[in-house]
Amino acid sequence: MSFRINPAVKFLARILGPELLHSAWLELLEYLPLKFEPPESLEVETKMGRLRCPVGLAAGYDKSGKHVGALSKLGFGYIVAGSFTLKPRKGHPKPRIAYRDSEQAVVNAMGLPNPGVMEFVKNFKRVEGCRVVASITGDTIGEFVECFKIVQKVVDAVEVNISCPTHEASMSMKDPKNIRELAERLREVKSKPAYIKIPPPVTSDEMDDVCKLLNVWMDCGMDGVTAVNTLLVDAPELALGRGGLSGRPLRPIMLKTVSRIRKELGEGIEINAVGGIMTGTDVLEALRAGANTVQIMTAMLFRGPNTLRRIIEELISVKAR
Ligand SMILES: Cc1cc2nc3c(=O)[nH]c(=O)nc-3n(C[C@H](O)[C@H](O)[C@H](O)COP(=O)(O)O)c2cc1C
Repeated sequence: MSFRINPAVKFLARILGPELLHSAWLELLEYLPLKFEPPESLEVETKMGRLRCPVGLAAGYDKSGKHVGALSKLGFGYIVAGSFTLKPRKGHPKPRIAYRDSEQAVVNAMGLPNPGVMEFVKNFKRVEGCRVVASITGDTIGEFVECFKIVQKVVDAVEVNISCPTHEASMSMKDPKNIRELAERLREVKSKPAYIKIPPPVTSDEMDDVCKLLNVWMDCGMDGVTAVNTLLVDAPELALGRGGLSGRPLRPIMLKTVSRIRKELGEGIEINAVGGIMTGTDVLEALRAGANTVQIMTAMLFRGPNTLRRIIEELISVKAR
């Protein structure tokens, strides 16, 4: 099952640029009467609670967390807001998002712009029928722990992002010594499920490192993993000259990573699959590879407002075959 990039999205992105189009769309969403409720047969039980469907919205779509209420009406099982840091961040210079239409991919070097974790918590309102996860990140272990403590008071789970490819400080957390210290300190404070978001392992050594990291993470009483974040590539179309690649090219890496983690770490670890999931067939493949839930991001940028409804309809039709 394939899809074409929504022609209206393509046209508007050319005129406004992808970042402005995205911000305008999020504001507009607050006023549109969109509503979709997935069928009850798609409900799944997870450590963050019962989800009305296994498809979540990945971190980075709603970076401020201001639009969680409007986005929840689209039918997601859960929404990951953020990533949030302890203090507000402006992010990298623009342009910092570009479409690579022919590859069904996006490159971004947003640099984690966000209003800071306190602002998110202050404005947070619970939403009907949809779980909310906060993605957090930082420059130091202390910052991660502080963010976790603050945000877990309002959300259903926390995603710990150590894999933003244009933010070197958070990436350094994947060193086994750092990950143990981070997980041990989180264990002392944690009252909500914790998922670690990992970078895409490309070589077999990187895949082995991911499994080692996750063994430490799970040994310290954590709950699961979100696999995978974007892949660092050259991006001359962005001000930074490099960025994280998302969309179709990530799909084979995501599938390989999910099945290896499930095989190596067993049933105890909860896996949220993300990377190149754009159709109902992709969802089914990721679940069959061992994921408990999936998340989408680039598909939402390319397929337009009815993305989730279409993916759910496709999922139901491929499951019935
Ligand atoms: C514009 C953009 C911004 C993103 N921002 C974040 C972020 O703040 N935190 C994070 O953990 N992942 C972020 N991501 C990564 C996505 O959550 C996801 O892991 C990645 O895009 C792969 O999924 P996809 O192929 O469905 O897009 C971002 C991705 C894009 C395209």
